[in-house]
Amino acid sequence: MHFNMIKAIRGTRDILPLEVREWQQVEDAAREIFELYAYQEIRTPLFEETELFARSIGQETDIVAKEMYSFRDRGDVSLSLRPEGTASVVRAYIEHHLDRQVGPVAKLYYMGPMFRYERPQKGRYRQFHQIGAEVLGSEQPTVEAEVIEMLFLLLDRLKVPSAQLLINSLGDAVCRPGYLASLKESVGGQLDKFCPDCQRRAQTNPLRVLDCKNESCQPLIARLPSVLDALCSPCRDHFDRFRASLEDRGLPYALQPRLVRGLDYYVRTTFEIVSGELGAQNALVGGGRYDGLSELLGGPPVQGFGFALGLERFVLVLPESVTESLKEGPDVFLAPLGDEAHRYCTGLATRLRRRGIACDLDYEPGRTLRSQMKHADRVRARYVLIIGERELGSGQFTLRRMSDGWQEPISEEGLFAHFGPVAGATAPTNFSPTA
Ligand code: HAM
Repeated sequence: MHFNMIKAIRGTRDILPLEVREWQQVEDAAREIFELYAYQEIRTPLFEETELFARSIGQETDIVAKEMYSFRDRGDVSLSLRPEGTASVVRAYIEHHLDRQVGPVAKLYYMGPMFRYERPQKGRYRQFHQIGAEVLGSEQPTVEAEVIEMLFLLLDRLKVPSAQLLINSLGDAVCRPGYLASLKESVGGQLDKFCPDCQRRAQTNPLRVLDCKNESCQPLIARLPSVLDALCSPCRDHFDRFRASLEDRGLPYALQPRLVRGLDYYVRTTFEIVSGELGAQNALVGGGRYDGLSELLGGPPVQGFGFALGLERFVLVLPESVTESLKEGPDVFLAPLGDEAHRYCTGLATRLRRRGIACDLDYEPGRTLRSQMKHADRVRARYVLIIGERELGSGQFTLRRMSDGWQEPISEEGLFAHFGPVAGATAPTNFSPTA
């Protein structure tokens, strides 16, 4: 019988061990930095009622109209795999009265998979991963600038090159309707010159016209009214204070009045961080303010601001200086020669690991030194410890550095000292089969 090979679904991918290290590097740096700013982690379900996303992100957006993985469960409820994290965080905040638990300003972060049925290409997947943060309960523009400062610190820590911050304001319920009307009018006056997508968007979601990628629409879009000229005075004041706070912190930005985001919940400040290294899908981070979302979800008035970054895209732009060291394997590979040495190594491996020293060994006894050296090379061990019969007698082994062949005789105690002491290592306790 011959079976077909089953492969991963288009738009999804396996993150293989070497790559996982790069992911962990980003995740670890994010956790560390978010905690410096007093954020707490929240984990929400991977699926929710479809209605949650339809109401938050907007019925007319591409995400809700075309990209959700929706299905009915056995109770005939329409559910969707989450296409983003903000809606769930706000739902959880309302549902659990998080303001009472975590204080007047809730600073939350999350990481995990999101799902959108998009056309896969470099940096765009159907299952992708976001790291996001949300601040609930403050309308201050300084909070927005602080969030962006935190992102810059992360970019800096990971040495991400050539990232650029683009900012915009989309106004609010007072000034946006007027802007949309003038936008509609401008587009409507020359509708036949726009592409069919724009013609449709002019009716359903005129802001999205600004976002059209079609070459022939670009000169037309450049002449459309700018949202920044249409802000009411409270929105203008908010945006000015946001910019001043970025400047106070020395964070460079570019105004991008055509920056419209693909989600309807935004008001006032929106931003993206783009990278020149990424090609068409160049947004590393997207975010903005979403005051009013809580009420849309049946909650009390709560102001919100946040962002999400795409992990796949972050990993793509990590420089080699950051990823190089991640390829290293265990500290030491044990290479015994002969049965007695092999038995000894089993105990030595336990003792090393209990001291927090990472080691590996060939589980098959009796392999030649050459074959064990090859094995050590494959697992990228930093050192090899060679233990022959003679060495076993004298208690002096040979420690060899893989990178340059440097070697020295070393005792077991010497070995512990060479690799330790390691922070967090567990001292031997009464569980010590051979210690
Ligand atoms: P978003 O712009 O839709 O915003 O997504 C944020 C980031 O997720 C993007 O900049 C990109 O890096 C990554 N991303 C999005 N779609 C894909 C995909 N198909 N494949 C790979 N990466 C992707 C949001 O999701 C909002 N929830 C952000 C936010 C949080 N706004 C306020 N709070």
